[in-house]
Amino acid sequence: MCGIVGYVGSKPALPVLLDGLARLEYRGYDSAGVAWLKDGEVQRMRCQGKLVGLRDMVQGGKISDCPIGIGHTRWATHGAPTEENAHPHTDCKGKLVVVHNGIIENYFTLRNQLREEGHTFVSETDTEVLAHLIEKYLENDIVEAVRRCLAEVEGAFAMGVLWKGAPDKLVAARKESPLVLGAGKGENFMASDIPALLPYTREIIFLEDGDLAVLTKDSIEISRIDTGESVEREAKTISWDATAAEKAGYRHFMLKEIYEQPQSVLNTFRGRIIPETGHVDLPEIKLSNEELAKISRIVLLACGTSWHAGLVAKYWIEEWAGIPVEVELASEFRYRRLLVNETVLVVPISQSGETADTLAGLRIARKHGSPVIAICNVVGSTITRESDGTIYTHAGPEIGVASTKAFTSQLTALYILALFLAQTRNTMDPAARAEKIRALSEVPRIIEKRLEEMHQACTELSDEFYQYRDFLYLGRHLHFPIALEGALKLKEISYIHAEGYAAGEMKHGPIALIDRNMPVVALVPRDHVYEKMVSNVEEVRSRRGIIIAVAEDGDNDISRVAQHVIRVPATKDPAIKPFIFTIPLQLIAYEIAFARGCDVDQPRNLAKSVTVE
Ligand code: M6R
Repeated sequence: MCGIVGYVGSKPALPVLLDGLARLEYRGYDSAGVAWLKDGEVQRMRCQGKLVGLRDMVQGGKISDCPIGIGHTRWATHGAPTEENAHPHTDCKGKLVVVHNGIIENYFTLRNQLREEGHTFVSETDTEVLAHLIEKYLENDIVEAVRRCLAEVEGAFAMGVLWKGAPDKLVAARKESPLVLGAGKGENFMASDIPALLPYTREIIFLEDGDLAVLTKDSIEISRIDTGESVEREAKTISWDATAAEKAGYRHFMLKEIYEQPQSVLNTFRGRIIPETGHVDLPEIKLSNEELAKISRIVLLACGTSWHAGLVAKYWIEEWAGIPVEVELASEFRYRRLLVNETVLVVPISQSGETADTLAGLRIARKHGSPVIAICNVVGSTITRESDGTIYTHAGPEIGVASTKAFTSQLTALYILALFLAQTRNTMDPAARAEKIRALSEVPRIIEKRLEEMHQACTELSDEFYQYRDFLYLGRHLHFPIALEGALKLKEISYIHAEGYAAGEMKHGPIALIDRNMPVVALVPRDHVYEKMVSNVEEVRSRRGIIIAVAEDGDNDISRVAQHVIRVPATKDPAIKPFIFTIPLQLIAYEIAFARGCDVDQPRNLAKSVTVE
């Protein structure tokens, strides 16, 4: 989720780059950098932290009037947010610079090969591999060198390249990470997102996966990376204002982030699962197989939405790896007599990596000698620094206070962790493990295909329900925590009272609440507790309750008992259903909050990162 800007034209590039980067800061702000040419040589300046530091270094753009350059604002994925890891990255001789957004999955192998061939690496990033690989193939044709480099690269990239040997040319390429070009008069641009370009041009070309573009001030030529065949991509005129553009045209960051989930789930499992062989690769867990074999218990430690992700994972880990799991609210855990030791693996789960209670719990666990492996979205955050290892979620920056894409990315990371433990402890038949991996690999496509349709259904539902004051969310097994998460989403952004409950608990109290004024959102996946769940729905109905069922395609029985049904795609494997059932719950909360005129992205009394107790 980094930001990229490139400019070639007649005016000084630096102010354009800095301005564009400022408009992309929502994509990442760990560090920033720019590169340009001076007297035929590549110049570069980089700075840890927010863009303001870089702006001071380059004196607001006054230090050079060079009309070509590239810039980057970083959201760290490989390597801490330091100046050495900031983009642009360069080759051994400093002849070329590269900015990149995405994840190079085989960077480790490529880096080792390049090292053996004599290349020197100075950063911990995957991006630096691109600079050296281009250098390897560069004789006098930068485009050909980029093509040959990309033929060896696995993973996702949006990149920009500037070479001193072609001082009037920028090269851009993309695969699975966004990159747009801006067509100007006597100037052209590239950027990872439209807002960077709007003050300069509204004529935007959307590159497609596998496209490579060569930009000069008067031309844009696009071809396919693999074949070199020229392709036409028509420019579209963008009418959004700058604020709408930052949200890619969505009304709120939250909605944008809901729509980003196919990509963020994919980014989280990318390079970690091999569907063909059924193998899970998690080098981040720096524990040997012997150490893993000694683990007697796992404690998942988190707050809020992250705690809900932990509750789902308990089912997966216990089922597949056979290890007992406790899911602890960090604010409770830290004040108890703790029975943890070196045989108990503690896993703090946190989007921000800065949540005070989770951090405190982690520190206490370490004092007791427990190994700590975090699940976190923010590289270099305190929780990651204080853990023995971190499985990053790669969801990209989440700006809406209500967690959405971070949640499904946490589920992804935990699902992989559960399978990894099953693999190392040999507790699962390899064919069954391969089946779970294959099922996970399908999730992005399944969600993407039906997102719009689910959204439409949730919007219609919200018209009818936005004025209610209380909601009950019910689920069983894996979908009990999803019910909790659905209720939390609704209450935090719409200020409607909502409770999540395990449906089997209904008769022990909450059934007394059922009346015409409290809609019940019932999660009814086709799993081994389906019949039980339908019985609970019947119980609500017989007490004249209003039922909104979330149910799978083809489940006709549910329509006989529920007055409203939101359809989700049916899946064969029950393990992946929580990913899918989460989406309509996020959309229901979003649309109800919007209909009530609430500040969806910044709800009252809440902060994105709770760094105090
Ligand atoms: O950054 P963390 O994951 O540690 O944050 C934990 C909670 O504060 C967070 O999940 C909160 O509950 C969200 N606002 C829920 O949408």
